[in-house]
Amino acid sequence: MSKYCVQRLNNIEGYTPGEQPKETNVIKLNTNENPFPPPIEISQALKEITLEQLRKYPDPVALELRKKIAHVYNIPDERWILVGNGMDEILSILIRTFVDYHETIFATYPTYSLYEVLANLHGCKFQYHDLDDHFNITPPFTWNSSKLLLITHPNAPSGVPTPPEIMKEICSNQEQIIFIDEAYVDFCDFSYISWVKEYPNVIIGRTFSKSFSLAGVRLGFAVGNPELISDMFKVKDSYNVNVLTQQIGIKALENHDHITNHIETIKATRRFLQEELQKLGFIVPNSQTNFLLAIWNGKPSAEEIYLKLKEKNIFVRYFPMRRLENALRITIGTKEQCSILLENLLKIIS
Ligand SMILES: Cc1ncc(COP(=O)(O)O)c(C=O)c1O
Repeated sequence: MSKYCVQRLNNIEGYTPGEQPKETNVIKLNTNENPFPPPIEISQALKEITLEQLRKYPDPVALELRKKIAHVYNIPDERWILVGNGMDEILSILIRTFVDYHETIFATYPTYSLYEVLANLHGCKFQYHDLDDHFNITPPFTWNSSKLLLITHPNAPSGVPTPPEIMKEICSNQEQIIFIDEAYVDFCDFSYISWVKEYPNVIIGRTFSKSFSLAGVRLGFAVGNPELISDMFKVKDSYNVNVLTQQIGIKALENHDHITNHIETIKATRRFLQEELQKLGFIVPNSQTNFLLAIWNGKPSAEEIYLKLKEKNIFVRYFPMRRLENALRITIGTKEQCSILLENLLKIIS
């Protein structure tokens, strides 16, 4: 750390994203990207972008895109929507808008580790509510002292959804901002997006990185009561979503139906991979996402398996974190990719 850097950053580790190997002959099941391409119409949208559009700044409020999102997701109007440079930026705006220095954020554990990093960077206090052994949220819910509660539905990295009766209990009894991170919800049977109309303190986060196969585009959005969204507007950078991303987002939403087939294929491959991993002796919670958490209590260790797979150019995610030391998070790839993974796993563990 340089002598100029603020003291607060002294003991803070930045977020470590999953590896993005340069080689192309790898099986990449480590960052929950979608193995299928985005709708073909996106290429057309890219071709239609003019140099004149690039010369000028983008629409700072991304009006057309926000209107389209409101329409597709049955939200009253664009005042309920904020778009960002991926959901990661939405999370950063969220924390800077609703939590002051030294105030507390609560999240369930284990969860998306970026939450804690962002809280630390912002100088907030951060506390975890541990999920039970099956990765379910269980009472008592003692979060009243917090300003913001982060719930990932379905959860990452377990893939386990939060059932409506639990979510209802939380939303009906908590007064702070409740952010429900629905990054993976298109692979799940139920979403809480419509709850923003009922609960004025609930904000939903969504991303185009997973079901839409557009991780490289960086587009996410928040849906919530217009009063909250207008607070968040104050904090965002003026031109936080570029011209290309706005145009691609609109085109993706116009072709929303095209992602459905890929989602169904991923769900079928998820069932196949879960069953095969269980046959190999992994414990695999039922996931409603595009990944599985494969828990391994045998030898070699999960970390060794991860490293051995990497030697074979197969990338999965290993988190050296409490409760995840014995686990690998595996993105659902194509059936062929998953079969190659399974063949290699069998060799490694037998
Ligand atoms: C739970 C969760 N929330 C948010 C994100 C961020 O999504 P984005 O790619 O839109 O920044 C991720 C990315 O993997 C995630 O796993």
